[in-house]
Amino acid sequence: MTQSTAAVQETPASTHSIALADKIRAKTARVGIVGLGYVGLPLAVEYANAGYTVVGIDLQASKVDAINRGESYVQDVPTHEVKELVAAGKLTATSDFSIVSTLDTVNICVPTPLRKTKDPDMSYIVSATEEIAKYFQAGMLVILESTTYPGTTDELVRPMLERDGLRVGEDFFLCFSPERVDPGNPNFQTKNIPKVVGGTTAECTRMGALFYSQALEKVVPVSSTQVAEMVKLLENTFRMINIGLVNELAIMCGRMGINVWEVIDAAATKPFGFMPFYPGPGLGGHCIPIDPFYLSWKSKQAGIEARFIELAGYVNGQMPHFVVEKVQNALNDDGKALKGSRVHLLGVAYKRDIDDVRESPALDIIHLLQRRGAEVSYTDPFVPVVKLDGLNMQTQDVSAAAEADCVVIVTDHSGFDYRAIIDGAKLIVDTRNALKKFSSEKIIRL
Ligand SMILES: NC(=O)c1ccc[n+]([C@@H]2O[C@H](COP(=O)([O-])OP(=O)(O)OC[C@H]3O[C@@H](n4cnc5c(N)ncnc54)[C@H](O)[C@@H]3O)[C@@H](O)[C@H]2O)c1
Repeated sequence: MTQSTAAVQETPASTHSIALADKIRAKTARVGIVGLGYVGLPLAVEYANAGYTVVGIDLQASKVDAINRGESYVQDVPTHEVKELVAAGKLTATSDFSIVSTLDTVNICVPTPLRKTKDPDMSYIVSATEEIAKYFQAGMLVILESTTYPGTTDELVRPMLERDGLRVGEDFFLCFSPERVDPGNPNFQTKNIPKVVGGTTAECTRMGALFYSQALEKVVPVSSTQVAEMVKLLENTFRMINIGLVNELAIMCGRMGINVWEVIDAAATKPFGFMPFYPGPGLGGHCIPIDPFYLSWKSKQAGIEARFIELAGYVNGQMPHFVVEKVQNALNDDGKALKGSRVHLLGVAYKRDIDDVRESPALDIIHLLQRRGAEVSYTDPFVPVVKLDGLNMQTQDVSAAAEADCVVIVTDHSGFDYRAIIDGAKLIVDTRNALKKFSSEKIIRL
């Protein structure tokens, strides 16, 4: 393990601290992961692979049953790995929180969505922590991994655990560690993504860092839970704002007849001081469209308006409308009206080669097209059905693209045969520059 240089002050260790550290080093600590989704399941598998006995706790019976049968439902976690770990007794799952009384560590990986008003929805963290608190005992380490606003661990989670006179940093240990998993990324997964961790006290940070160093390649301790919480928000806000910038540039370039993709690729040849971001049909997924609003909500309470976030949120939110206008204009130029035309989307997942449609801009694009009277269908090899946001659609064979009046590439899955799609299609709006290598009068680029 490598540790960074952040300050972790030496403090005298308590009896609980010595006992827990010994168990973590000996791999006899029993590890619990609450929330077995895109974040929790890969983490559970990593700890089981590292030699710990791991219990996953999830309210969804279907996930619990799948794990206990030895099946994975997360694309980045192979079923054979789950099967071997379950057969070896290293990994089990349950919906019964009373198991917490047998655990030494608990990582909380539950959802943190936004409410319709763009306020943080803390209900999953609160209900998971309430359940943990019922069975919590001295000597345990609890780490919150769900993305949230700075202050959550200390202001919300800590008081729920500090009951019966248990003292944080002495009787139990509490940390926040941002999750940085990037589904579908073949190069970086839970094990080799550096893990930032900050504790309520220096002893908590030390315990959290020790825990992660047993299973992950690099640990980066920071001085507090608030710093660790803010790290995640900075990372995702940075992406959201830069994507907003290039989306606005794409709209400007569209007006001026300049190819924005060529501009970005040429700018990216600068060997310092520039990092390319690419425009697209709008933000998607469980992180980038959501997390920055956790920061703006909290900063409003501190009397500061997060103007960059609001602006980027507005620009990014306009992109599905911009795409639909492109489709409408393309059809008009082809002598057709959008109303009554057949529009076929290629890809509905929020990004390439994954099966996640949460917050996907495809959903907005479908709604906008339908509202303007278009007949909409889609092909996505990763998403057999879309039952979300009032939609109930099924993927079609890719040959449906050739029958449509206009094809829209919303997600640039690598498995699509783009040559064949261009040959068959009448008109293509490409929101991802998937057809970069091709030239055809049928192609309209973002
Ligand atoms: N998916 C990502 O790429 C990603 C990346 C970085 C951070 N995050 C953050 O990590 C957290 C988890 O995200 P995810 O994508 O794994 O979510 P997910 O929806 O895939 O998984 C969350 C799981 O928690 C379970 N759950 C909900 N309430 C529960 C409770 N009270 N007790 C036990 N289980 C409960 C759900 O049934 C679900 O299986 C979120 O805060 C998210 O913002 C996600």
